Amino acid sequence: MNTSRSAGTSLRPTHLFRPALERDRMQALLSEGDLIVSDAEESEGGVAANLIRDESGLRLAFLTSEAELHVQELSEAVRFLPKVTWRLPHTDMLLTGFRSGRWHGLGLYASEGKQLVSYLDYSVKLEGQEIEIGFCMTHPEWRSRGLVKRLLASLLLLYFDHTFRISTHESNLAMSRALEHFGFTVNARLPRDRINGETTLYLIRKAASPFTLAEPN
Ligand SMILES: CC(C)(COP(=O)(O)OP(=O)(O)OC[C@H]1O[C@@H](n2cnc3c(N)ncnc32)[C@H](O)[C@@H]1OP(=O)(O)O)[C@@H](O)C(=O)NCCC(=O)NCCS
Repeated sequence: MNTSRSAGTSLRPTHLFRPALERDRMQALLSEGDLIVSDAEESEGGVAANLIRDESGLRLAFLTSEAELHVQELSEAVRFLPKVTWRLPHTDMLLTGFRSGRWHGLGLYASEGKQLVSYLDYSVKLEGQEIEIGFCMTHPEWRSRGLVKRLLASLLLLYFDHTFRISTHESNLAMSRALEHFGFTVNARLPRDRINGETTLYLIRKAASPFTLAEPN
């Protein structure tokens, strides 16, 4: 992975990254804690990405089993619109997946690592060609600050060579906007799939699609 630093707070361009070969190193770099994935596009058989310094004090973490209590605390503070098929509270389902090792948690910590404020989990499917994103949540007191978008940008860079899939429900504007921003499109709908009669939307994203975290000015 080719990394270059320029003066000031930005690293430019920063990273020429070959996902299939250098995923572990990119994950380690993102875990070091003070970088935000700003944009990424295909380049020279890999990805050219800009990572900028984070001034917010939030810390990105690929979560291990030790984080389970933090995940539980956050999950219990968040409400989801249940599917008609859900037989258990969402926190039970989320923690079952997290403990199984098939779902990996990615989170943002505040307060010097004491509070998990935003979280998503993902699973690698189709022999490593597709990522399914499962639960996404931001603590109610930390919403509308771009935190879920920041988590998505990190995951999309790390698995730039993968397709992505996720589902949400039709009235979930915040989630839909975040997904639309990163080039997810609806490919299927399941009517009356939620306890209030709402439709579930299934979205996909093509591998190697470019993205930027912020809207251009
Ligand atoms: C959905 C959720 C994860 C979004 O988290 P967040 O960190 O607040 O999201 P962000 O700040 O990154 O914003 C994402 C997008 O939603 C927009 N947004 C944020 N709050 C919004 C709101 N209340 N209404 C409409 N849009 C909103 C943002 O402007 C942004 O869109 P943009 O790219 O057009 O600017 C959060 O609201 C949540 O935890 N909801 C409950 C659980 C849930 O529904 N999870 C998703 C299930 S798939």
